[in-house]
Amino acid sequence: MRLAKYLANAGVTSRRRAEILIAEGRVKVNGEPALLPQTLVDTDDTVEVDGIIVGGLEEKAYYLLNKPSGYISTAHDTHNRPKVTDLLKSTKARVYPVGRLDADTSGVLLLTNDGELAFRLTHPSYGIKKVYRAWVRGLPERGTMKKMSDGMIIEGKKTSPSWVRLVKTEYKKRSALLEITLTEGKKHQVKNMCSAAGHPVLKLHRESFAGLKADKLPEGSFRRLNNDEISMLYRLVGL
Ligand code: URA
Repeated sequence: MRLAKYLANAGVTSRRRAEILIAEGRVKVNGEPALLPQTLVDTDDTVEVDGIIVGGLEEKAYYLLNKPSGYISTAHDTHNRPKVTDLLKSTKARVYPVGRLDADTSGVLLLTNDGELAFRLTHPSYGIKKVYRAWVRGLPERGTMKKMSDGMIIEGKKTSPSWVRLVKTEYKKRSALLEITLTEGKKHQVKNMCSAAGHPVLKLHRESFAGLKADKLPEGSFRRLNNDEISMLYRLVGL
């Protein structure tokens, strides 16, 4: 099947828009950039859009992992570092992280082989809420937090409005715990926003993704999402 048709069939986008994604170099087949819509793919091939695997005929599986720090969330790593997928080895399904958390970030990470859902959950147009708790250096002032939530210019682009609130302050250690709720997921966004505000992140944890929390799940453990949670995610992204 032609790549553009494959992407359309997988529900990623229309065939026409798929051709644009391909031309923009955002599509990879088996890890290699594919620049031609007529590239032929079949069910054995792994197709990625913006690093997210799409399509496939496997039964759909949905997990929530309480990610420990020290694990990378990309599927391939040239440095042989531990991967979040190593933590789900006991499951048979080939699942992939929904978006990314930095290696030193802990907390809620969804993994699935449902490419269409993953694509939409990470697309900023759906405004999926991600709640982070960040220990930062220094004691941020109210005005600084307002600037952060209004949107900061990072690498020439303004971040979308977010919610920033002070949870607690450690006066002696001159550090503070902020809760930051984002509706987009630019690379290193929380760290970049906090650094730009003059309060570098010391420790970062994701409390929730689309309202889903780790609750009592110990770090490094995972659980299957239940049907209500899966339906809720589908509803959130209009599926
Ligand atoms: N923002 C970051 O800076 N890092 C993450 O891992 C997630 C959000």
